[in-house]
Amino acid sequence: GALTLAQEKQVAAAAALRWVRDGMLLGLGTGSTSAQFIIQLGAAVQNGLKVQGTATSMASEALARQLGIPLVEPRRGLRFDLAVDGADELDGQLRLIKGGGGALLREKVLETASNYLLVIGDSSKLVPVLGRFPLPLEVVPFALPWVLDAVEALGGAPVVRMAQSGAADYYLSDQKNLIVDCHFGQITDAEQLATRLKTIPGIVEHGLFLGLAKAAIVVRDGAALVLRP
Ligand code: A5P
Repeated sequence: GALTLAQEKQVAAAAALRWVRDGMLLGLGTGSTSAQFIIQLGAAVQNGLKVQGTATSMASEALARQLGIPLVEPRRGLRFDLAVDGADELDGQLRLIKGGGGALLREKVLETASNYLLVIGDSSKLVPVLGRFPLPLEVVPFALPWVLDAVEALGGAPVVRMAQSGAADYYLSDQKNLIVDCHFGQITDAEQLATRLKTIPGIVEHGLFLGLAKAAIVVRDGAALVLRP
């Protein structure tokens, strides 16, 4: 029968594990698909694989530590051989929307410092045009009102992420910033939108990852399929 999305995430993670070689320094992603990869990587480390990693979130770091994956702290000159991470959406050119898990800032920092970004996703992640998933922004709390105005001026509908649905308190990133989820409709010019968002003071980072992914593993008809930009 057809795989569930949870099973597809395991299939994508297993395929990504075959890209890992002894001695690699790895970037570890965030989210449910990345968690599957970290769990399978942990099993390989138990079986003697020698790798080190740095995580893109406190949650992924805790998971990796619990599984005995050796962790390295950020330092000058540190580059990763391979970063493996999920995405909220990807298009055929491997442009990404990320940040559904709130970790977009550390993800972009670490993945920009990686020689190779491999995206893993279930069959729901590949879309013809980005934008069905609202674009997350990491925003300094002081700047929030003006960022909301600026996003609306760009034609977006911003929603400040809450800690839980129905909760009264805002969700906070690992850096103690806010996340604003922005509905832009179909994003037909992602490069232009990225450029404009970069000019708005108080937006620390946005979830458009352009030109970063070198390959993606998505699942189709139960099998892992490798895509390149
Ligand atoms: C984390 O901030 C995101 O960029 C994740 O990569 C994204 O939310 C994917 O999560 P899932 O693998 O749980 O869909």
